[in-house]
Amino acid sequence: MRTSAEYIDSINRLIAGIPYPEEPHGLYEPIAYTLDCGGKRLRPILLLASCDAVGGNMDGAVNQALGIEMFHNFTLLHDDVMDRADKRRGKPTVHCKWNEATAILSGDAMLTMASQLVGSGCNDKLSEVLDLFHGTAMEIYEGQQYDMGFESRDDVTVAEYIEMIRLKTSVLLGCACRLGALMGGADIEVQEALYRYGISLGLAFQLQDDWLDTYGDPEVFGKNIGGDIMNDKKTFLLITAINKSDAARHEELLSMLGSRSADKVERVKAIYDALNVGDECRELIERYAADAVSELDKAGLDGDAREFFVNIAKASLTRRS
Ligand code: IPE
Ligand code: IPE
Ligand code: MG
Ligand code: MG
Ligand code: MG
Repeated sequence: MRTSAEYIDSINRLIAGIPYPEEPHGLYEPIAYTLDCGGKRLRPILLLASCDAVGGNMDGAVNQALGIEMFHNFTLLHDDVMDRADKRRGKPTVHCKWNEATAILSGDAMLTMASQLVGSGCNDKLSEVLDLFHGTAMEIYEGQQYDMGFESRDDVTVAEYIEMIRLKTSVLLGCACRLGALMGGADIEVQEALYRYGISLGLAFQLQDDWLDTYGDPEVFGKNIGGDIMNDKKTFLLITAINKSDAARHEELLSMLGSRSADKVERVKAIYDALNVGDECRELIERYAADAVSELDKAGLDGDAREFFVNIAKASLTRRS
C-alpha cells in the first residue's frame, strides 16, 4: 500500500498530463480550471487503494481513477448551477467565473471524457466496468433529482434523506472501491464488501458535508456556509429540527422555508443549536463510519490495507474541508 499523499501525488500528475485540445478554449479552459483547483481526490484514492489492497497493480487502474475523478468534477459543475453556489475549493464556481451555459457544456464534455477514461484499458473487464459505471451515474442523477425535489417539501423523512444521499453521493464512493477491486482482480465477495464500505463511508461523508455547510469555517471548507439552509435543503439537521421542535419553533422554521431573507441562516442555526441537532448529526456520522469499518473484515483486508481504509473512515469524522 502507498500513503494517501502518494496516491494524491500520482493522481495530480495524471491530471496535469491530460492533453486538452487547444481550441475551443472556452470549452477546455473551465475543465482544466476545475481539475487544477484541487479537491481531496477521495474517489481516485479509494479506487487505487482498493486495487492495491486486493493485490492488484494500481498502474492498471489509473485510467479508471482519473475517469472517476473527472466524473465527480463533472457532477460538481452541474451541481453548483442547481444549488446556486458561487464558491468551491476557495474559488469562484465555473458558472460564476464564466456563465451557466459554460458550466453545462464543459460539464457535458467532462462526462464524455470520464466515460472514455473509465472504459480504457479494461480488456475483458470492459462490459463489467461500464455496467457498474453507467449504473452508478444513473443513480447519482436520481439522487440529485430527489435532492432538488425535497427543497419544496417540508415532510421529508430521515429515511428518505438517507436514501437520497446514498444515491447522490455514496454510490460513487462504493463504485470507486469496487472498480479498484475489480481492476485488481478481486473476487466478487471482496468487490461487494468494498462496495458496502464505500456506501457507509459515503453516508458519513455526506452527513459531514451537510454538517460543515452549517458549522464549518468558510476559509477551510472552501464553500459558502449556509447554502443548504438558504436553499431549504432537507438535510438531517433540518429534518431533525422540524421533527423535534415545539409548536412555536416549528412554525418559525416552516415560515422561513422559501424565504431568502438575510437573517435566515442565523435564525435557522439558532434553532438547530437550541435543539442540539448538530450533536445528533455527529452521532450518526460516527455510526456510519463504524459500519464502514465493519465491512473491511468481510472484505478480508488485514494489516496495512485494513489500516489504510480505517484511517480514511476516521478522517471522514474530523475533516473540515
Ligand atoms: C463534494 O465532494 C460533493 C459531495 C459529495 C459532498 P468532495 O468533498 O469530495 O469535493 P472535493 O473534490 O474534495 O472538492
Ligand atoms: C453533492 O452534494 C452531490 C453531488 C455533486 C452529486 P452537495 O450539493 O451537498 O455537494 P456540495 O456541498 O455542493 O459540494
Ligand atoms: Mg447539491
Ligand atoms: Mg452543492
Ligand atoms: Mg454540500
